[in-house]
Amino acid sequence: MRSTDPAQHADPPNGAGSLGVVVPAAGSGRRMGGVQKQFLEVAGLPVLHRALLPFLAHPRLVAVVVALPPDDAARPPGWLTSLDPRLRVVAGGSSRGESVFLGLAGLPEVDVAMVHDGARPLVSIDTVDRCFRRAVEGVGAVAGVPAVDTMKTVGPDRRILATPDREHLWHAHTPQAFPAHVLREAYALAQAEGFPATDDAALVERLGLPVEMVPGNPENLKVTRSQDVAVAEALLGFMEGA
Ligand code: CTP
Ligand code: MG
Repeated sequence: MRSTDPAQHADPPNGAGSLGVVVPAAGSGRRMGGVQKQFLEVAGLPVLHRALLPFLAHPRLVAVVVALPPDDAARPPGWLTSLDPRLRVVAGGSSRGESVFLGLAGLPEVDVAMVHDGARPLVSIDTVDRCFRRAVEGVGAVAGVPAVDTMKTVGPDRRILATPDREHLWHAHTPQAFPAHVLREAYALAQAEGFPATDDAALVERLGLPVEMVPGNPENLKVTRSQDVAVAEALLGFMEGA
């Protein structure tokens, strides 16, 4: 079993904090040749289904909003609508940010709001819980892992401009967790100003509010290219055998 017993996680600091999750899953999978990767199966379960399970197992979870492409939101798959009564579906937008914004609008009042990509099927409940615990304390928390490759900053012509010290570089995954009012404010401002971002933390960082990297599980890949389904199945086997 890749997630540990949720009962172990039943007592966050002060025993407080309700959790709401927005899952953007309204993309079109352009880098996979237009395949809706959120519905592809990894070891017999859709990617999106696997992405949801660790959140549904968290003892503080009160609501999940899944943003789907408008056509799918109008006719969601049966496995999704029957998965959990705390889950609802909304139509997403034309960018990830817009889908999260629309998802947040459908989320009830909660203490902690998290965002998790519907294309990340291998997140562990321990990763979810570590992010939750930091956000309950009032600090934004981004799951991620330290960079293992040397990273380069390049110009438009691919000329290398700098080789930043790898010790200070992390890959940012999801979930990303925040006090809910902070995330709502950050998204409202970003929408009003048309600020683009590929993750949620960037919108909170620009408000000058604290956000930290939290160690995630390294297997938590985002299914992005066709070969990632095979990689995800191999990683799942590794996690289940661990
Ligand atoms: N996403 C979304 N709404 C969009 C675009 C993306 O909810 N308009 C979601 C995707 O479904 C995915 C997550 O955001 O769960 C991360 O996006 P990405 O990996 O880029 O997925 P796609 O946009 O589907 O893929 P691509 O960029 O290759 O088209
Ligand atoms: Mg995309």
